Amino acid sequence: MAPGCLPLLGHLLPLIRDPLAFLSSLPGHGDLVEVRVGPTRAVVVCDPELNHRLLMEDRTFDKGGLFIEKAREFVGNSLGTCPHSLHRRQRRLAQPAFHQARMPGYAGIMVEHITAATGLWRPGRVLDVYAEMMGITVKVLLATMFSSSLPAQAGHHRLHEDIVTIFDSLYRRTLTPRSLNRLPTRGNLRYRQAIARVHRAIHAVLADRRVDGTDHGDLLSALLAARDDGSDTAGRGLSDTEITDNTMMFILAGTETTASALAWALHLVAGHPAVERSLHGEVDAVLAGRPATHTDLPHLKLTGRIVTETLRLYPPGWIFTRVTTADTLLGGHRIPQNTTVIYSPYLLHRRADLFDAPDRFDPDRVQPGRHSLVPFGAGSRKCIGDTFAVTEATLALATIASRWTLRHVAGPPVTPARSAALYPRNLRMRAEARTESTKAGT
Ligand code: HEM
Repeated sequence: MAPGCLPLLGHLLPLIRDPLAFLSSLPGHGDLVEVRVGPTRAVVVCDPELNHRLLMEDRTFDKGGLFIEKAREFVGNSLGTCPHSLHRRQRRLAQPAFHQARMPGYAGIMVEHITAATGLWRPGRVLDVYAEMMGITVKVLLATMFSSSLPAQAGHHRLHEDIVTIFDSLYRRTLTPRSLNRLPTRGNLRYRQAIARVHRAIHAVLADRRVDGTDHGDLLSALLAARDDGSDTAGRGLSDTEITDNTMMFILAGTETTASALAWALHLVAGHPAVERSLHGEVDAVLAGRPATHTDLPHLKLTGRIVTETLRLYPPGWIFTRVTTADTLLGGHRIPQNTTVIYSPYLLHRRADLFDAPDRFDPDRVQPGRHSLVPFGAGSRKCIGDTFAVTEATLALATIASRWTLRHVAGPPVTPARSAALYPRNLRMRAEARTESTKAGT
């Protein structure tokens, strides 16, 4: 059992006040450590091999627990939240939407939005970097999901704001009891209205698409075209509810995560001048001032390593839960049925015995042992959008670095926010244009 357990509250206070420090302290107490969240008992996995088993044995360690229950409030039983029994079919039907062959098309949309957003920057302007990155990833996700089928600009803007509202409430709602979340407070009402509006917008597009029937080359078309090949369900596709829930799931899983990674990458690069110089050298050689495209990806090697190292230091998905469906053994410990098991990429990525000087940002570090680096999870529930996310982050980082240098401005310290994703709070940076003369100096 982790130290500091209080009657009634358990470890709720450290989990709310400084969850990252709390999680990082746990490996000192064993490979599996018990914690309490109020009356709920949970086990945290601190060892990479046990973590791998947890992720591989998805029938015994099924999706469930606090986060999943709260997420089901608005994504239903979608890909990321459904139990094992419903997962295989949905995953098979959704997989073609993320097929390699579709990536160049998505990358084109990504570049368009990255270029448009950064094209509005002006030299000397101070940017709220996370909000800027969230602006890019939300637009990219909506455009790759729905191509041009979204309502006019005003509706688009509303949808964007609603998504941000949902994210703002998510982590807090996970830790507060259901009764408090139901109270008609301003925050709860705003949250519920935002969810209802996003649902309505998705329903409207879906209804149009069912009538129209053509392939728009976007994620929604891929979901609509998917057909089951199982013997008793052959030819059946995803229902409207399944498509709506999965669309919400992609919005939930695919915007804040990538935006956080990008914002941290910009923060880390600015704080490491030698890395910044090498990054500028790479993008100047590969891009020569133009935006990055899908065909540049194999040549943007350092940019890719910066993305990987950022995902190690600040994995946007930092805590996940499973629930045991039967009594089982993990690492020789007996775990009864219905136990919540927690895994945390952050905890593993910061273990000093797995990563040399784990708090240091070093894109050239030697790759760790198997199963230690898990920003996208593993096994059958591994992130379906991993290539999508790395593609977007690499294209955005390279395109930004080819034209801009971002500099920190004085202000409150940059700290990881306790949100659904681990984004940098207070990250304000000044955009400086990279001119031919500054480029020559790199
Ligand atoms: C840097 C960005 C991202 C990170 C770090 C990330 C991380 C993760 C992780 C760790 C999981 C596994 C969760 C678990 O084990 O319980 C996951 C699942 C998932 N992610 Fe991502 N993700 C990212 C971007 C995306 C994007 C762009 C999309 C979609 C457009 C996406 C869609 C999903 C879905 C649908 C699942 C559930 C998969 C399943 O259970 O079959 N993610 N993600």
